[in-house]
Amino acid sequence: MGSGLILGIESSCDETAAAVVERGAWTRSSIVASQIATHAAYGGVVPELASREHLRNVVPMTRAALAQAGCGLGDLDAIAVTSGPGLAGALLVGLTYAKALAFARGIPLIAVNHLEGHIHAVLLQNRELERQRLTSHPSHKNNNVARVGHPDSANDEGGLPMPALALVVSGGHTHLFLARPPVAGAEIGHWRYTLVGRTLDDAAGEAFDKVAKLLGLGYPGGPWIDQLAQFGDPKAVPFGFAQIKNKAHLEGKAARTKGAVTAPIGDLDRHFLFSFSGIKTAVLRYVEVNRLRASCEARQRALMATPNPRWQDALTLCDKQTLDLIASFQHAVVGNLLRKTFAAAEAVGAASVLATGGVAANRELRVRFTAEAAERGLPVAFPTLSLSTDNAAMIAAAAWPRFLAGEFAGLDLEANPRLTLA
Ligand code: KG4
Ligand code: ZN
Repeated sequence: MGSGLILGIESSCDETAAAVVERGAWTRSSIVASQIATHAAYGGVVPELASREHLRNVVPMTRAALAQAGCGLGDLDAIAVTSGPGLAGALLVGLTYAKALAFARGIPLIAVNHLEGHIHAVLLQNRELERQRLTSHPSHKNNNVARVGHPDSANDEGGLPMPALALVVSGGHTHLFLARPPVAGAEIGHWRYTLVGRTLDDAAGEAFDKVAKLLGLGYPGGPWIDQLAQFGDPKAVPFGFAQIKNKAHLEGKAARTKGAVTAPIGDLDRHFLFSFSGIKTAVLRYVEVNRLRASCEARQRALMATPNPRWQDALTLCDKQTLDLIASFQHAVVGNLLRKTFAAAEAVGAASVLATGGVAANRELRVRFTAEAAERGLPVAFPTLSLSTDNAAMIAAAAWPRFLAGEFAGLDLEANPRLTLA
């Protein structure tokens, strides 16, 4: 084996990212070019513009990642690239570039599922913490996560007992997977994933983005709501989530989300199915009934007229009722994610919980998940904030077990906008 260095390339949505990761466990560099400024004016990702931005950024991002890692193309063992799910045109840019590099250098190309990447963001971070601890205190293992003996704990990944129940929650996805490491003792092998739950309609991040847009806040909405929620009363508006009904009418139903189409919904326990379109409508109804529409539009105009608006600018434009609405919305969404995730973890006998994807950057989510996990004696882990949102380090990390297994993609690899993980 060579250097153990894998170059990751990610272009599935609105971030162009490149990273160099050593042996799936050490981030040598990770560079992300965000397209927020391009899409903000439209209040959502414009696929055509996203592809053009990726085309503009993919070479400079890769150059920067190689420079920061202190290596050249000749030092790489493989190129890893997101092949789906995501926007077709956006995926094609990263994929075509990765293929060209692999072809020109004569090194393997590895296809990575974006959702698997989000899960490996947590594993990568835990391995890095473990390595740092072992380097500074060789006798100490990772105590980043609470260590609790668990009968089903088949393995231990950087201090996180396995199997793990993974909540992947972002702008395009809300999925629960049971993640199992390669069979213990075997040198090579694959992570195995079982789909435990998913959203029937909107992704949680989509709800954050749509509610923020309705309230005249910036794009993407999650970080704005996260910041403003701390100034409101989370109990002021009692939002509820309807029970997902008996599954008969769901048999064969396809998900409406931008993300992957997965196993038939009828096969899943309805307690682990999510639905976020209702709360979005409830917020809209609250705005109409309480005659907040004009103030939302005024806030949007004021922020549009502000150069580089920040959440602090929005705070001065929100009255108490609006701040209470924001806090109540976030509290309800986080509560729903929390209840279903921990119930699913218990039902499938997971030895730990991990939450990842853009929405996992949310502070209320982290605080409440941490508290719930402590109460249940179940270890929980999150990626750092920069590893929560889209990045390429997670793609290069997820590629490492595939590299060891010699699982390489052909140069006829296609983009699959609806790629499934399980
Ligand atoms: O993982 P990501 O960067 O891209 C996708 O794969 O979708 O996630 C982006 C999503 C957006 O919907 C954004 O509003 C949401 O993550 N998000 C947050 C926060 N930061 C980003 N949602 C809630 N709180 C946050 N702090
Ligand atoms: Zn993502």
